[in-house]
Parts: sequence; C-alpha cells; structure tokens
Amino acid sequence: MFIVSPSVLACDLANLAAETKKVENAGAQYIHLDVMDGIFVPNMSFAHPVIACLRKTSSIVFDTHLMITKPERFVDDFIKAGADIITVHYEACEDLMGTIKHIKEAGVKAAVAIKPATPASVLFPILRDIDMALVMTVEPGFGGQKMIPATVEKVREIRQYAIDNGIEIDIQVDGGINANNLKLVTEAGANVVVAGSAIFLADDPSQVIAEMKEQAEKYPFGSGVDR
Ligand code: DX5
Ligand code: ZN
Repeated sequence: MFIVSPSVLACDLANLAAETKKVENAGAQYIHLDVMDGIFVPNMSFAHPVIACLRKTSSIVFDTHLMITKPERFVDDFIKAGADIITVHYEACEDLMGTIKHIKEAGVKAAVAIKPATPASVLFPILRDIDMALVMTVEPGFGGQKMIPATVEKVREIRQYAIDNGIEIDIQVDGGINANNLKLVTEAGANVVVAGSAIFLADDPSQVIAEMKEQAEKYPFGSGVDR
C-alpha cells in the first residue's frame, strides 16, 4: 500500500492542528512529526508535549521521526503522547534491539532510520523485527533540501533483501521528495513517502497527493498502518 506522510516541518506550526486536518482532508494517510534535539542533528523542533496536544485534535496516524540522541530515554513519553509509529535512528541508539522491543511491546509500530552515509546492510539483521525502514534521502535536520540520488540504491537493496527473505516491510523515504522524483524511489521499492515542502508549500496539496498516489499505484509494496 502506498502512503503519503506530509512532514509538518514545512507547515505553519502555530496552526499545527489545522494544518494536519488540511493534509488529512487532502488525502494524506499519515502525518510525519519530526522531533529534533539540536545534538543528533544541528536543528531543533518540537517534542512529545506538542504531539500530546495534537493527539486530542486528530485521529490520523502519527508517524513520529525521532532525530534525537539516545531516543530510548524518551520513547515512553512519545508512546504516552499518542505516537502510532516511532522511528529511531540506527546511529543514535545505544540499545537498538531493546528499544525496538520496548516500542512494540507498547503496541506501537517500530521503525529504524538510516542517514545517507549509513549502509543499507546494517538493517538486514533486524528487518524481521521492525515494521518500517526509513532511508533518509537527505542529511536529517532540515526540510526543503534536495534529494541525494545515491540514497535510492539503498532502498532497492533493502526491498530486494526483504523480497529474497520473504519479509513484508514498509520502506519509507524522507527528504526532498516531490511528484517529479517520486518515481525513482517508488520504483526502487519505497511505499511510504514523506514530503514536507512539496505538499505544504503547494497551492493545492490535494492535487500533489493525488498525483503521487496515482504515480505509485503500480508498485504494490508494503502494507502501511491503520489506526
Ligand atoms: C529532515 C526531516 C524531513 C523533512 C522533509 O530532517 O526528517 O522529514 O522535513 O521535508 P522536505 O520534504 O521538505 O525535504
Ligand atoms: Zn523526517
């Protein structure tokens, strides 16, 4: 199933609830919540208190991307805040397997992200244990960057490994994705697409989302998450 997950980094954060509703009405199945700590990435955003408030206004799937050092310290806070998917970075965890297990035991979907310089193969041993793999297509930290084409090969490697080993998994891409380069990543095996600027800065987000869904229709990978 193909999923569109608009990143709120590009929206008007003073009106987060309305912006979330806007993209949900425009056809987005998830909302992508980028949490940054100024240490793992050279930028800051918002954290679980904001997400808990948003939860009261929305029932869309909360796709929570933790760009924070030692995320295990805060996983429980994000679970309590109402996250449906929690993505931690491979590079940021001290106890990756323990963190994944903890997230899943709480009934929340667990995902692991890799930065552009991290090889796809680090995810192979844990692919069966996670619900989604996130291949960063830009250096994490900022919205509005250009997609790094070399990262697409990693999507292909992970999808191939999953197919060869009979693993059903969602593969997410995040950073610089728009309707023009979408084909590159979906054809390689991605089925969950994060797009911030391409959706929130568009005159008509519903048109962009519809165009993305139409393009991706022929690649029936992954299953997605419902609430
Ligand atoms: C980058 C974030 C992304 C980003 C995507 O660190 O993880 O989710 O906001 O925004 P665009 O689509 O504008 O690159
Ligand atoms: Zn993100």
